[in-house]
Order: sequence, then structure tokens, then C-alpha cells
Amino acid sequence: MQFDRPVFDVTAVRASYPALADGYAYLDGAAGTQVPATVIEAISKAQASGLGNAGGAFPASTRSDEITAGCRAAVAAVVGGRPDGVILGPNMTTLTYRVAGALAKTWQPGDEVVVSRLDHDANVRPWIQAAERAGAVIRWAEVDTSTGELPAGQYASLIGDRTRLVAVTAASNVIGTRPDVAAITAMARAAGALSYVDGVHATPHGPVDVALLGADFYATSAYKWSGPHIGAVIAAPELLETLHPDKLVPSPDEVPWRFELGTPAYASLAGVTAAVHHLAGLAAPAEGTLRDRVLASMTEVQRYEEDLFAVLLAGLEAMPHVTTYGKAAIRTATSYFTVAGSTPQQVAEHLAARRINVWNGHNYAWELTGALGIRDGGSAVRAGLVHYNDISDVERLLAAVTELAR
Ligand SMILES: Cc1ncc(COP(=O)(O)O)c(C=O)c1O
Repeated sequence: MQFDRPVFDVTAVRASYPALADGYAYLDGAAGTQVPATVIEAISKAQASGLGNAGGAFPASTRSDEITAGCRAAVAAVVGGRPDGVILGPNMTTLTYRVAGALAKTWQPGDEVVVSRLDHDANVRPWIQAAERAGAVIRWAEVDTSTGELPAGQYASLIGDRTRLVAVTAASNVIGTRPDVAAITAMARAAGALSYVDGVHATPHGPVDVALLGADFYATSAYKWSGPHIGAVIAAPELLETLHPDKLVPSPDEVPWRFELGTPAYASLAGVTAAVHHLAGLAAPAEGTLRDRVLASMTEVQRYEEDLFAVLLAGLEAMPHVTTYGKAAIRTATSYFTVAGSTPQQVAEHLAARRINVWNGHNYAWELTGALGIRDGGSAVRAGLVHYNDISDVERLLAAVTELAR
């Protein structure tokens, strides 16, 4: 049979994830995805091959160097950056504190930093704390709480001559809103400010191009897209050259090593590369560059998730005892809801008893849940889709939430 575009076969995809065999509906992907067998094998193979620390004269050390180089190239293929601009580390939060510390050394009292109430706290607090130390002023972009949108227009009055950095998310980790990042970063650039885009929630849900987003820095975490617990920040190497994070005297001063602290998790880096190849193989032709194949696959993933999410959202919205949060025009397949008569914790426990994994609480969307006025009451329940979820997961969720009607 001939298809005019690659086919996304969710049954085959699910079979590649050993953890999914336990019969649970994994609707907790926004907090971290499961990993396919190829990732587990890559980590195990790297470990078994004999690894050494970087830069040594013996083969085990060369293998570690090759793994690191391969990982940078693979991450660059996911987001469209350059391998020598990929900073690797344990997670996005650690790397964001690192970049914030380095950038803040260039700030003067009275400089301004713009953060948003839509963001995960990992793209808010590091900037606030760094700004406080530098005497810089924080300016807030607000969420329209009736829609969950982060209107880009407000940035025209938030960004000015003193703005040094604009930190904004490419997608909310609870209500899924995808703001107009390109418009926001363009305003930042026009004012001579840098942008730091949190792509942790956005990356697993569709194709990413840091140039199209206009992001000076783009942060992502491989464990949200079928990889192990590794984070990455991608920037132009020329920009990284201008920054000088705190570092040990003997550690490499070259970019991007300058930004990386201590000994990397080499085996996990091998797993990240395997995860990128997994993404590339989800629904793409076998030919083409890794970047081409990731883009083709993620375009299909986005389409698949959107269709499935439409069923999930329509089901929740049809229930009189359910309140959903966020109705942004462009969003990821992430639902956030409360159920009348049950606390979010009780809902999560009810679902867990039916073998459905969801998260309840603020999920570190601290400012947003505060702005929505739900944080003190336990916030809400998050059920999110990733590419390995299927209609049976959605139907189980809807049936279990229906049971909570009183
Ligand atoms: C949107 C978003 N940003 C940042 C983070 C923090 O990422 P990490 O756990 O890699 O520090 C998360 C984690 O859930 C997230 O969803």
C-alpha cells in the first residue's frame, strides 16, 4: 500500500516501550515520559563498552568523547541548533540557574528582566534571584486567566531600553498554551535584549526550530521526549563565547564545555542520542538527515496528538462536574481540570486505583496556579498526552472521571 505521507502507527510505537506493558494508562508524560527499549539498550551498551573520563589517551575515554559529541549533534537535530552550541547537564532547572548566573554578571542595577506568569517556575525564579543580586528590575507578563493566553502584545510595553533578557515558555506545562514566542523574541531582539525560551514542555509535542522561534537560548529536557534524565540549553556558540559562568580553573574554557560542571553522565548521553533516533523513526521516511526525519516525525506526532486530544478535551468539557482550565487557540495536548466534590488529590487517587497515571497539584506552574486562584485549593489535575498514548488511554480516563459525578 502506498501512503502519500509517513504513517504514525501507535500500536507499533507502544510496543517499543517496555514500561507500557504494565497496563497503566500513562497520562503523566508531561512530568516525564517512559523510554523505548532502544534507549535502555543504548545506555546499557555504553556502560558495558567501557567508559572513561573525557580527553584521555585510551579508547574508553575516546568512547566517552564520541558519545558526548554524538549527543550534542542529536540534540541539535531536534531543535535546529548547532552541536557546538549545545550545553548538556542534569536537567533544565540546573542549566537555567547556570545561564542566569552567567548572564547576570553582565547586568547593571536598573536593568530589566521580563518573566511571565505562564511559565514553569524553573524559567521564573532563577531570573528573579539573579536579577535581585544584580539590582535588576523584574517585569511581569500576565496571563489572560479567562483564556489561558499570554498575549504577545503586552510585551511592547514591557520591553524597553533597559531590558536585558526576556524569559518565556514555548508551552505551559499545565494548560498547554503555546504563546507567540516568535513575536515576543522579535520585540526583545529589536530592543537589544536576549531571549531565553523554555522548550521543556513544547519539545515533545511537535517540530521545533530555534531560528523560527528567534530564541537566543532554548532549553529542553530529554526525559520529556523519551530520553533519560538529561537537560540541554541550545544557543549560538558566538553568544556563549561572550559569557563567563563560574567554573573551576582546570576545567575546559572552550564553549560549550565552559558551561558544563563536573563529569557528565556519559551513558545517559548515549541514551539521549538513541531517543532522538527513536523520535526520527516514529513516522518519517528512512532517508534524509536526522534533522529532516525528526521534523517529519514530529509533524506527524503533533497531528496525532491533536486528534486524540480533541476527544479527551471534548469528553471532559461535556461533563457538568468538571471544570477545565485554559482554552488557548494554540496549545499542546495537555489538560488541566478540577472535579466538583473531589480534591485534585482525591481525583488522582481515584484514577490511580483504576491504573491511570496523572499528576495533581501546581506542577511548579506556581505563578499561573496562583493567578488562576486555584493553588491554595490543591490546584488541579493534569492529564497530558504524548505520542505513545492511544484512544484506550483517553477512554479510560473519561470513564473514570465520569464515575466521580455526584
Ligand atoms: C515547562 C517546564 N519547564 C521546566 C521544567 C523543569 O525541567 P527539569 O526537570 O529538566 O529541570 C519542567 C519540568 O516539568 C517543565 O515542564
